[in-house]
Amino acid sequence: MRNIIDVQLKTRRAAATEYRADMLVLGAFSDEKKLDKVGRAIDSRLDGAIERVIKLGDFKAKLGTSAVVYGNEKIGAKRVMLVGLGEKKKATVDAARKAAANASKKAVEMKVQTLGLAIHAAFANRFQPAVIARAMAEGTYFGSYRYDEFVTANEDGRLDSLKVELIDPDPIRTKKLSKGLAAGAAIGRAQSYARTLANRPANVIDPPELAALARKLARDSKNLTCTVFDEKQLAAKRMGGILAVGSGSQSKPRFIILKYTPPGKVAAGRPAVALVGKAITFDSGGISIKPAANMDHMKLDKTGGIAVLGTMKAVAELGLALNVLGIVPSAENLPSGSSYRPGDIITTFSGKTVEVLNTDAEGRMILCDGLEYAVKQKCDIIIDIATLTGACMVALGKYMAGLMGNNEKLIKQLQKAAEGSGEKVWSMPSGDEYAEEMKSKIADLRNIGSKWGGACTAAAFLRQFAGNAKWAHLDIAGMDVFQEPTEYAAPGSSGFGVRLLTTYLMNLVEGKTW
Ligand code: BES
Ligand code: MN
Ligand code: ZN
Repeated sequence: MRNIIDVQLKTRRAAATEYRADMLVLGAFSDEKKLDKVGRAIDSRLDGAIERVIKLGDFKAKLGTSAVVYGNEKIGAKRVMLVGLGEKKKATVDAARKAAANASKKAVEMKVQTLGLAIHAAFANRFQPAVIARAMAEGTYFGSYRYDEFVTANEDGRLDSLKVELIDPDPIRTKKLSKGLAAGAAIGRAQSYARTLANRPANVIDPPELAALARKLARDSKNLTCTVFDEKQLAAKRMGGILAVGSGSQSKPRFIILKYTPPGKVAAGRPAVALVGKAITFDSGGISIKPAANMDHMKLDKTGGIAVLGTMKAVAELGLALNVLGIVPSAENLPSGSSYRPGDIITTFSGKTVEVLNTDAEGRMILCDGLEYAVKQKCDIIIDIATLTGACMVALGKYMAGLMGNNEKLIKQLQKAAEGSGEKVWSMPSGDEYAEEMKSKIADLRNIGSKWGGACTAAAFLRQFAGNAKWAHLDIAGMDVFQEPTEYAAPGSSGFGVRLLTTYLMNLVEGKTW
């Protein structure tokens, strides 16, 4: 099995003109007539080659575009890539993240070994250097990622590693860039880890294997511990939801708990946070089986849980000063003689009973046990993340995740984290009207609502398992995968949620109030 491309990221104090690399990357805004200072210095040594590209109209600096000009003996780099940042007045840090991703993706395609990024120079003083460096580091990991673990024919000869440096001539700024880069690299690595796990198919990752991977994650980090409940322990604890969903598969369910204990002291009053992620390693629908077309996509039904694993990895690497519990219920949803059935009444871990009317609404059946576990652990804030409903995709498309919750402040904080991380969310309701639809006549709850508002009724179901905690729910169906390659990303898992949740937790640590 091949390893994923190894990204090595550093800062370097250097002038762009002298910097020796296979490729140097500069950013440009679409509404700026002139090149910035760094661009002008390079262009004059290239005898106006960049200006000629622009004059010909071959590069308009729109977001997602790029152009390459070739170096000469007067500059250190063999190639200069211009990446578009879009309109200056609209540009957020995400433009820098996307530009770095775009450049890194092209660098891998071009088999570039050493890449120098000076994208931040275009932003001058608009964002703090650490903030922009973090975004660029995240983007570098994101763009250079491709999933080819199982490709044995190595015909395209892609390189094993990519050396990337953020370059800046100013020593003080370089120091600040380094700080952001370290955080961004930790987050980038965690997101790539999540993408690889998510991309692995269901014959490679089943619930016991996912548990083994979580255990390894904890072994490799001194601040993480891992506990796994197997099917016997699940039965002893009466975790009826996850047991029901997992009952149809030969691969037995696992309830994975990663506990992060920070190295230092936690400020008084800082909340304990639980992240609960859905990890259905394959969702066939069960007895309420799905249509055959695109069913392979359902290997990605574990991405919520994997986003939690990735976030825990990032949190541990960053050494964040707060207590975080990662809770990942994992099962495989298959039809068989031992499956749970439509009509079954299941007693969940909380004691609440659920009438199962569709075995394909299995995510909520495992999440309710995860939420109850977080409540029992007395977590103050519980955030769940799941590829929960096709209805959420119908509502929002593939651009943002659905965000529901019972606490305005938590919702606002997650919206803010979405802005910072570039992983977008859109707030949706989950209140009383929706909860009404989830009442059963013969049990406490039913697991599906009416035809309409499926993302909201699903959230309304979950809401009832959050106890008195501040709770938010992220429905990431539609966000889990890039069906087609984009300028920034290879096809396959997006790793969505790792940046969003890590950013939320970082903000929580930095914030004065919570
Ligand atoms: N994992 C699916 C949701 C999903 C669908 C994710 C498409 C990504 C892409 C979930 O378990 C599911 O099957 N939901 C059902 C719920 C319904 C039975 C109430 C759905 O959305 O159809
Ligand atoms: Mn399903
Ligand atoms: Zn599912």
